Amino acid sequence: MNRNILKSSLGTDSHPLTAHDNYWSRSVRESLAHQDWSQADLREQIDLPAWQGFLDDLPRDPYVNQRWKRMSWLALTPTGDVTNLGECPMAQGGAFNDAESMADKLRYYAPLTEEFLSRPDVKAFVRGWAGLWNLGAGEPILMQITGVRGKGQVDPLQGQGIHADGCKALSIMVVNRENVTGAENHLYRDKAGQHPIAHTTLAPGEVLHLRDDRVFHSVDGIRQLDETRPFERFIIIINSRFVDEFQNRILRRHFPHAILHTEG
Ligand SMILES: [Fe+2]
Repeated sequence: MNRNILKSSLGTDSHPLTAHDNYWSRSVRESLAHQDWSQADLREQIDLPAWQGFLDDLPRDPYVNQRWKRMSWLALTPTGDVTNLGECPMAQGGAFNDAESMADKLRYYAPLTEEFLSRPDVKAFVRGWAGLWNLGAGEPILMQITGVRGKGQVDPLQGQGIHADGCKALSIMVVNRENVTGAENHLYRDKAGQHPIAHTTLAPGEVLHLRDDRVFHSVDGIRQLDETRPFERFIIIINSRFVDEFQNRILRRHFPHAILHTEG
């Protein structure tokens, strides 16, 4: 981690970086502001087939069956570049993750590759995403490539069901979807699922933005369509402004100069 860059950001305003305000259409911003979620298609902004090329060497997720994952902690610099903060485990508290294999555990994953992170369309995506949420320099951004592949069917959430990820800013983009039925995304006002807001199935290149502190989400199980070949569905999850105290405690330990949003 480049501590000097982060240190120097502490004394400055964490204002949005207006240079990337045109990454999203006005309607995407307005929907997010008014209804706490929105959906967008990124196939014009990113080279989706190139991104799909980074799925093959993902290591297995040691905590979840049939899942593969890489993740990195990123942040904007004061000049609006994307920097890699270095290693910090995922730490979801029991309030945000009901799955016993994951809750209240430190989870370590291999980082996103330099080749992926140095792509101009990846950097533009991270900058554009940070701009959508008005993130300032030094706020940790967790970017993950994760997904499932296999035969038969799988619950990508491992029984987690309707949940929130423990942050304020969350987006989920589908990278590929092959030989798959199911995996419909559901949004609710409440964790019990009594008040549904929206149901949508994302195609590759489509992204769903959620105000995770206001909207709960779930995804249906995935089923193999053609039984002669495996199914595969990979996504990018990108989030920031954590409200999960466990995650913030671990972030503070690894990134002493990061800008966190601890509440209370
Ligand atoms: Fe989630």
